[in-house]
Amino acid sequence: MQRILLDTDTGVDDALAIILALNSPELKVEAITSVSGNVHVDLCTRNLLMTLETMGIDEYPVCARGESQPLIKPLVTASHVHGLDGIGDATQLLRDDGSRLYPDPEPRLTAISAVDLIIDLVGQYPDELVLVPVGPLTNIAKAMIKHPARMRRVREIVLMGGAFETYGNVTTTAEFNIFADPHAAQLVLDFGVPVTMVPLDVTHQVMLTGKRLNAEIGERTDRLSQFLRDVTRATMGYHQDLEGFYGTYIHDALPIGLLTHPELFEIVEAFVQVETSSDLTQGMTIADLRPEKPRPKPNARVCVGVNAEAFLANFFDRIL
Ligand code: BDR
Ligand code: CA
Repeated sequence: MQRILLDTDTGVDDALAIILALNSPELKVEAITSVSGNVHVDLCTRNLLMTLETMGIDEYPVCARGESQPLIKPLVTASHVHGLDGIGDATQLLRDDGSRLYPDPEPRLTAISAVDLIIDLVGQYPDELVLVPVGPLTNIAKAMIKHPARMRRVREIVLMGGAFETYGNVTTTAEFNIFADPHAAQLVLDFGVPVTMVPLDVTHQVMLTGKRLNAEIGERTDRLSQFLRDVTRATMGYHQDLEGFYGTYIHDALPIGLLTHPELFEIVEAFVQVETSSDLTQGMTIADLRPEKPRPKPNARVCVGVNAEAFLANFFDRIL
């Protein structure tokens, strides 16, 4: 059993990652923290709590609200992908009587900030706690700045982010989580605790089509199945308009799958750097992944392959 802290800018695929993590017996989700990214942290926090409430779980992990602004650059969001509410505009859906299908959740948050919660939990589980950031790395970087000695006791960071041998999804060269806070990403890579990156190169191999989702849900009418349909609809429409397939990527679920089923993934070691300043390529992750190349000492493990079908089969087996 691995103890994890999930750090998320809860949008559509983040919600799927939360559901998968909480249904993974190999993991003990000690806490979930929010951060600005897909939308402002206030909405991300609401979406996180809404996801937990919809799951109907008895025991909540500790949840904390995180940072609202990246370390240096102004906040950029991805509401064009995740909806204005960050959760596929599901908060706009109404029942027949006019009430909201997904009302605002109970504000079940700890009083301390995400940064302080991260620092506290690493202190509680030194050399044991795995951090799983699936949004911009602002909270993690701020925790490292505030309490470096404590943060050196993080066991590993397994993050979703980066694009190496593929195009970015914000700019030609940059993936969203790294683009949104490139300075935080560079700081985390420089810090010296083990980092594993799950980049777009891998997450783009796992496509969740509307057809597959419908087939897997089948006749189910439970609240979570309805939620899965409702939150993915807008982003599937977005990909239909932009790329011609009715479906979506489930980026943030991949690091969870890597923790529970490492045998499905292919990984190489690399020295990864982040472009922080250029107007043209800010947020680009740079590494030479060729095995035969002499290169600087690796500072990260980078996922380069996944057994997509086996991952998806396990994903559905667990979330439904
Ligand atoms: C990442 O960016 C966000 O929009 C997604 O939630 C995911 O974490 C993919 O680039
Ligand atoms: Ca995310």
